Amino acid sequence: MSSETFDIKDSTLADIGRNRIEWAETDMPVLRTIREKFEKDKPFKGITIGCCLHVTTETANLMRTLKSGGADVYLCASNPLSTQDDVAAALVKHYDVPTFAIKGEDNDTYYKHLNAVLDSRPQITQDDGCDLVSTIHRDRPDQIKDIVGGTEETTTGVIRLKAMAKDNALKFPVIAVNDSMTKHFFDNRYGTGQSTIDGIVRATNRLLAGSTFVMAGYGWCGRGIAMRAKGMGSRVIVTEVDAVKALEAHMDGFLVLPMKEAAKVADFICTSTGDINVVDMEDFEVMKDGCIVCNSGHFDVEINVAGLKEQAKQINDIRPFVKEYKLDKKSVYVLADGRLVNLSSAEGHPACVMDMSFANQALGAKYILDNKGKLSNDVHVLPEDLDIEIARLKLNALGVEIDKLTPEQKEYLSSWKHGT
Ligand code: ADE
Repeated sequence: MSSETFDIKDSTLADIGRNRIEWAETDMPVLRTIREKFEKDKPFKGITIGCCLHVTTETANLMRTLKSGGADVYLCASNPLSTQDDVAAALVKHYDVPTFAIKGEDNDTYYKHLNAVLDSRPQITQDDGCDLVSTIHRDRPDQIKDIVGGTEETTTGVIRLKAMAKDNALKFPVIAVNDSMTKHFFDNRYGTGQSTIDGIVRATNRLLAGSTFVMAGYGWCGRGIAMRAKGMGSRVIVTEVDAVKALEAHMDGFLVLPMKEAAKVADFICTSTGDINVVDMEDFEVMKDGCIVCNSGHFDVEINVAGLKEQAKQINDIRPFVKEYKLDKKSVYVLADGRLVNLSSAEGHPACVMDMSFANQALGAKYILDNKGKLSNDVHVLPEDLDIEIARLKLNALGVEIDKLTPEQKEYLSSWKHGT
């Protein structure tokens, strides 16, 4: 591949990346099954797929799957800090995927990479956070006519897309992969739960047992993180704006408080809400000396890092991904500059859950093509039978057997005539 067709940090990392990609693959049996089928059927022959996803070992296996189906695939990062440079190198050298991603790239490079993917003029887009779709609509509307549709991985991206659709601004159909049950029940909860704790521990090497851990947001991700922090021995406090979610957190046994109260007692604060300034200046004011603050939501907007920078007397790099902000009478520590801690200082979700998320991505891309011209310019969910098929394949791979309805039970469930 010529050097204009990729931009990565260091191609000598390619063999290390390949080993790690192959290791992840051993825990992605559903994606393997799909890849084997794609290899035979070639559903993407002649199709270019432009992807803006976290460049991880798991994503590399999705790229391999799409290529097995005959696609030309181009990849850039969906976050400046989440790229695994060895994986980017392996994709270029061993898997023939033009990749544009460097861990720690600045904003200009991030958008240059995104545009490099769009220069391939894809017919299908795959996003994690809606950046490809919004760049096409904002800066490259001439490409809309080439596009059959897209897929979107994450809650934040789906929210952005639904806002576009509501304004009639969305000009091609997009599959909300996030909304498949086999995605958000597992990736958002067990994946974010484990990888966020992993990110905090790798960055800080602090003990969670006995600590007070504040979880901002009790969506699927927040639930997962709170559950795992509790399992590590933290006293977990949840903050919420949604009455139902707050009630659920309360009944799950967590103390629910407003942030300005929770911040006073926190040793760790983690955000996963999708909204801005969830940890703001008034919260920093009341925090204890040494409080550690991080974010696991998609964008780096949840912690007011800009305000903190302005107020700080001094800012020190303590260790990778840990910055000290010295305020009047205390220091607070922000992890990964407020970017996704689980993908910045750890490796993101483990392959076992990404297997199902990326099975949805792969089948979502095929569904878009199979239904070319039939889907409205809106946000769509994959049909339930595909979602259930992914669950079945996963159970099969895990060696878990389940019961089948008997004809008598089926009849009972479909009849309205039975009573007490
Ligand atoms: N999002 C969260 N974890 C991920 C991973 N391991 N790969 C790609 N995207 C992710």
